[in-house]
Amino acid sequence: MSDIRIEVKDRIQKITLNRADKKNALTRAMYDELCALLRDADEKNDIALTLITGSGGSFTSGNDLMDFMQEPPTSLDSPVGRFLHTLIAIDKPLVAAVNGPAVGIGATIIGHCDAAYATTSSWFQLPFVNLGLVPEAGATHWLAEMVGSAKAGDWLMTGRKITATEALESGLLSDVFDDDSFEESVIKRATMIASAAPDSIRVTKRLMRHRFRDAMKSVMSEEGEIFMKKLNGPEAQEAMGAFFEKRKPNFWK
Ligand code: COA
Repeated sequence: MSDIRIEVKDRIQKITLNRADKKNALTRAMYDELCALLRDADEKNDIALTLITGSGGSFTSGNDLMDFMQEPPTSLDSPVGRFLHTLIAIDKPLVAAVNGPAVGIGATIIGHCDAAYATTSSWFQLPFVNLGLVPEAGATHWLAEMVGSAKAGDWLMTGRKITATEALESGLLSDVFDDDSFEESVIKRATMIASAAPDSIRVTKRLMRHRFRDAMKSVMSEEGEIFMKKLNGPEAQEAMGAFFEKRKPNFWK
């Protein structure tokens, strides 16, 4: 079975991350497939927007940590690097339907979505400092603009879990819906976007995002270079080893 499920209906391209046994952790192959799907959507007349969600009660646990250990990115032109650049390049709306834990890039993708909805039981986590890493996807820049620097500092430096309610009240999310009615509520909103005048939607997205895109390119490059160095460093090696050994990392040996 593929690690990504795709369904196109009523001009909505629904992408479901389909690796539930690993909490939908994103592999290099999945990033490549996501890039192709997002780029293709821009070209296709029968797609108005992309909706991204997860399977098995998780959104995504972020980058696959085994991939990070075995095949760490060595240039900004890696699968994850290309995915991040695709997020800032696409013209059609990207909507997140967060249906469970959203960790690492599962949380930072939200800054690149045009609307983001979550179930009441979902939660977010930006655990980069607990992995011996630094934030990515431009989050060192846009998160403070979105939720305020006091919140952003707390979220990025404690790596604690953030409930959907806190994320909504802080401005990270567009709306939160009950778990039971979530799919129906999200499809209703996505259908509103997919029914609007397509050129107006495209130009609105461009007007809202083009300054952000320019700023993001340099922030993401700076973050990416440091991230790659730190991935091979002793703190990240200890943290990832600890994850798979199911123990707490010890950074103060
Ligand atoms: N990369 C690789 N494997 C992962 C993973 C990831 N990011 N997240 C989860 N998994 C695997 C676990 O190793 C486990 O595999 P196993 O069944 O072979 O032991 C399986 O998915 C289930 O995960 P588990 O931790 O047992 O589930 P949980 O419900 O207790 O916790 C999370 C869920 C998401 C809180 C927890 O898995 C987690 O913190 N994952 C890492 C998140 C992370 O640090 N992401 C990288 C950010 S840069």
